[in-house]
Amino acid sequence: MNVKVERHNYPSQFTGIESKLLHEIRGLLSSGDYVLGEAVAEYERAFATYIGTPHAIGVNSGTDALILALHALRIGQGDEVITVANTFHATALAIVRVGAIPVLVDCKSDTFLIDLEQVERKISKRTKAVIVVHLFGQAVNMAAVHDLARRNGLLVVEDCAQAIGAQSGGKKVGSMSDAGCWSFAPAKNLAAAGDAGAITLADPEVANRLRQMRHFGQATQNEHLIAGYNSRLDTIQALILRNKLGRVDMWSAERARIASIYKERLDGLPLAFQSGAEPGEHVYHLFQVKTDSRDGLLSHLQRRGIDAVVRYPTPIHLQPAFIDLGYRSGDLPVAEALAAQTLCLPLHPAMTVDQIDFVCDSVNSFFSR
Ligand SMILES: Cc1ncc(COP(=O)(O)O)c(C=O)c1O
Repeated sequence: MNVKVERHNYPSQFTGIESKLLHEIRGLLSSGDYVLGEAVAEYERAFATYIGTPHAIGVNSGTDALILALHALRIGQGDEVITVANTFHATALAIVRVGAIPVLVDCKSDTFLIDLEQVERKISKRTKAVIVVHLFGQAVNMAAVHDLARRNGLLVVEDCAQAIGAQSGGKKVGSMSDAGCWSFAPAKNLAAAGDAGAITLADPEVANRLRQMRHFGQATQNEHLIAGYNSRLDTIQALILRNKLGRVDMWSAERARIASIYKERLDGLPLAFQSGAEPGEHVYHLFQVKTDSRDGLLSHLQRRGIDAVVRYPTPIHLQPAFIDLGYRSGDLPVAEALAAQTLCLPLHPAMTVDQIDFVCDSVNSFFSR
């Protein structure tokens, strides 16, 4: 008998916090403190403490977090920013939005993460920064990134959208670089009920610039120092995030437990997992399997009611939006191969034993046909 397996269970994240949260939302509605209210400041303090940075600035989305961070770091027209082709669209989009040029490199075939040797080779006089992406929840080796950046005078921005709580060298991602950029969109491990994002960083001057930038570039009412944005973390979303933050580590532990069951029960099949993570370095935002029979496995799982998906079917350099960058098929072969060979098995903390079993049995039954 088939067991339906969804990719997410958003409502389950409110179990046990719902009445407190609704009480707080009611209080907010009657207070009128709707825009950049105290709830936003309180969440920013709590999030900065959790990540281990002096500053966290709430913004409207993860995409805006990247755009505002690059802008505040004074990256713009004509600058080159190196990033990886195996990522979500927003990473490269942000570079284009500030007028800079994305220089795309390949990823490693085992970790699926940015290939730092290729970054080193692509550095030019115009290179200002590198954006590393902790993709699918797995931390990039930040000591190696910072070593490379120091030697070449580059800024480092971390796209942390998929990796809350993941560590590199014993420190949380987003706590070690010029900026850590966060998304709290509904599918993320820490999620709002809508769009939300944040930037974490240490430099007080850049933090101050970001606080102005997200709020029309204004220092005080009617005093606009820079042409900024309207990109503020919504106050109701801040209340939701504040109430969920304390549960993130528990959810990550559950994600890691399910990931280890998958690895054990799928061991020996003709497939590979994203590899290279020590304990604590992966928070399993997405659980990837790589196989030459990807399309067949995908339809087999979907036919059985398992919501498996491909992330991402087209690498950044082959997306129509970036055609002007001039890349061609074959330029970044590892990212292209992963786009053809990987799929994500459903993995979230509210999965039942029956659902986990059904996913494992279904993958096994595909390969034993
Ligand atoms: C790696 C990565 N970067 C950036 C983003 C953009 O975040 P948002 O959807 O909140 O704009 C996402 C989320 O979709 C993402 O997965």
